[in-house]
Amino acid sequence: MATEEIIQKAEALRKEIRYHSYRYYVLDQPEITDYEFDKLYRSLVDLETKYPDIVTNDSPTQRVGGKASNDFQKVKFKKPMLSLANAFSGDELKAFDARIRAGLADKYEYITELKIDGLSMNLIYENGRLLQGLTRGDGRVGEDVTANVKTIKSIPLFIENAPPYMEVRGEVYMPRKSFIALNEKRDEAGVMPFANCRNAAAGSLRQLDPHVTAARHLDFFAYALGEAEGLDIHTQEELLKQLQRFHFRVNPNYKKCASIDEVIEEVGRWEDKRKSLGYDTDGMVIKVNDFEQQNKLGATVKDPKWAMAYKYPPEEAITQIKKIIVTMGRTGVLTPSADVTPVPLAGTIVKRATLHNIDFIHEKDIREGDFVTIYKAGEIIPEIAGVLKDRRSGAEKEFEMPKTCPVCGETVSRPEGEAAVRCTNARCGGILRQKLIHFASRDAMNIDGLGPAIVDGLLAYNLINDPADLYDLKEDDIRQMERMGEKSAGNIVKAIADSKERGLAKLLFALGIRFLGAKGADILATRFHTMENIMMADIQHIQSVDGMGDVIAHSVVEYFQDEKNKQMISRLKGHGVVMHELKEEIEGDAFLNEIVVLTGKLTSMGRHEASEIIKKNGGTTQSSITKTTTLVIAGEDAGSKLEKARAKGITVIDEADFLKRIGR
Ligand code: IVH
Repeated sequence: MATEEIIQKAEALRKEIRYHSYRYYVLDQPEITDYEFDKLYRSLVDLETKYPDIVTNDSPTQRVGGKASNDFQKVKFKKPMLSLANAFSGDELKAFDARIRAGLADKYEYITELKIDGLSMNLIYENGRLLQGLTRGDGRVGEDVTANVKTIKSIPLFIENAPPYMEVRGEVYMPRKSFIALNEKRDEAGVMPFANCRNAAAGSLRQLDPHVTAARHLDFFAYALGEAEGLDIHTQEELLKQLQRFHFRVNPNYKKCASIDEVIEEVGRWEDKRKSLGYDTDGMVIKVNDFEQQNKLGATVKDPKWAMAYKYPPEEAITQIKKIIVTMGRTGVLTPSADVTPVPLAGTIVKRATLHNIDFIHEKDIREGDFVTIYKAGEIIPEIAGVLKDRRSGAEKEFEMPKTCPVCGETVSRPEGEAAVRCTNARCGGILRQKLIHFASRDAMNIDGLGPAIVDGLLAYNLINDPADLYDLKEDDIRQMERMGEKSAGNIVKAIADSKERGLAKLLFALGIRFLGAKGADILATRFHTMENIMMADIQHIQSVDGMGDVIAHSVVEYFQDEKNKQMISRLKGHGVVMHELKEEIEGDAFLNEIVVLTGKLTSMGRHEASEIIKKNGGTTQSSITKTTTLVIAGEDAGSKLEKARAKGITVIDEADFLKRIGR
């Protein structure tokens, strides 16, 4: 049974985690390292696992989990979720302003906000606790996607000093970075990619399994209220500030404008600037600032009369497909792309657009010679929106995927239910080439000088068969290659030797395990510390790590089950390639799960050194005593902190005990 003390300790941990999540996910200004955060989180998980009856619905550990319902319940809104009327020109904004002026006797102001391109969401909070997340549906009846909404880390599960009932509305969206990474993974896995960030966000929110949603990294901007009791807010500007105080993410790019001319200027100012943001926007929303004036103006059945959406024209270009080519990715997927007549689009000259896979080509009926409309997904990736069929001459050529690998000539295969065509020849030079280039690349083992040209040379001279062979290379081997001087050969051998010290995270990424990106590799390395631990971990174990989805966990385990991979790792190890994590080197568990405060002066070492030792031994340090502190180390002349620790009944040890614990 959990004692009152345990319940309170869990609550204190939750509060601290909530605060640090807010610093990280909402403000983007963390105060502690990811490692320290993970420790805090882990302490709470451990406590809640030991005492399951203390788990609360709004605990930060309950973000992913929930029940995967097989239909999303329909829920009627207390206040309808209206849409917005559109304007496409300054004149239309002026006409809107004229209607406002006619409807109001007094002076009025506008607030302009970016129009985030996602899906609107209604979050219901009762006594500060997130109760339900509803999509807009048809505006009168929404769909309950609570389990998925809870996975969005910047959405508070609990709000301090909240009114008894409040509905917060805003936009769920997918950041461009997440979108691009997601589509890359989908291409590799042979599933259809999403056309844009909004579709990706919508698809992610309607997942039956919240784990999948969690892995999609959605985010949220709050900008409106639905039904609410007990809030004394009079303007949109005040509302945005209050939402910030409630710890929601509020888009900072809003502006108060005294006239429609100022609004039009602001709309112009963002037309290009918006493209460099990390998320998609499709316009600006112009709102009358004062709530009383909003009420006076009222609404039609569809839209409020006090607001307007200004839509920027989508950026598109028309060009012609010269040829469809096929290239090979790291995991052997053959990817078709279109070489197009170069055309300027959104700041660059586009020469090539991805076609993803054969299903994509069939679905859009894309042929060589076609005129097509192209756009940039997530403002970066050139994509084909559609074919201009009325411009066909009859000379266009339908495309078929090659039946054999363009690199090794072996038969390719298309697994059942997948859109991807793969070369499955384990000895395919194309796959090996991509693997080696990736292994040596900057974010992986960072082997200076070992680019595609050298890799091609090494393969042509039959010098290597896998990444581990790199560490066998001698200067003389490399010098056989054409145009390879003594000095360059020496430099390459040295660069290869230097790369042994990169550490576990880089090595894991370098192995090119499907779906495991640099960030995922980093998380695994921090959590498991050694290659051996990772190789022993099962799917469940890996999945339980925050940031590791089901797909990655399966892929990692599958990779290490393969005998060939195991042998290669063992050869890498034999060559002295470092197999443990360097960043957070773990030496022992003398302070496992302890949250430690250092006070007073230590005679044998400085504070920094002491806190490094604590971290290396499984603990976390804090600068002041809080409810979560579990241990205080008191040096000489320890003052008020020592008194506070004693008063709170926290264990206190002196320097001698500290040294004893770490075996010095
Ligand atoms: S206010 C009654 N503000 O645009 C007014 N909407 O085209 C409700 N949107 O359904 C909307 N950014 O999903 C508002 N800053 C913003 C917005 C925004 C994006 C979306 C929202 C709405 C749609 C209307």
